[in-house]
Amino acid sequence: MKPLHSRLLALALVCLASHATGAQPADDTRINLKLTPEERVEFLAEMRQMLGSIQGVMQGIGDADRERIAAAARQSGNRMARATPASVRAKLPQSFRDLGGPTHMMFEELAVRAETDDMDSLARDTANLMNQCMACHATFRVQ
Ligand code: HEC
Repeated sequence: MKPLHSRLLALALVCLASHATGAQPADDTRINLKLTPEERVEFLAEMRQMLGSIQGVMQGIGDADRERIAAAARQSGNRMARATPASVRAKLPQSFRDLGGPTHMMFEELAVRAETDDMDSLARDTANLMNQCMACHATFRVQ
């Protein structure tokens, strides 16, 4: 057994090292996308816009307002996918893209379905779409 002081020193070094790298607790197993502070600001703004889309869609479903649903969904559709900065896009692993790409497509599809489908099935589609949010949030982090 090592002397106590050297074990304490090792512990202090581990704490310092984890602090310097942004301190990820051992039970946080999500993959860090390692964005720069600027990229993170942009990335999280897009995320909040997706939450805004979900809010608008749910409001639209509640009011049976098809145009509201379609407009809210389109905000997070292909337009947003194209708006992702090239520097961020280049950092995103394939497993991230496999979740992110289809999410934008599901928003586009929801906008089209809003023209014809009944509100119950639009609500179900929205819940299914939100499984994408859940899956990605369980897997990745940016800070
Ligand atoms: C392909 C991956 C992915 C998908 C899909 C995704 N997100 Fe995110 N989202 C993230 C990551 C990564 C973060 C940062 C989490 C962290 O660092 O703790 C995040 C953060 C957020 C935040 C926090 C924003 C802030 O300002 O801190 C919100 C809100 C959010 N997402 C909403 C959504 C909604 C709503 C959906 C689905 C419609 C969604 N996201 C789909 C990856 C994703």
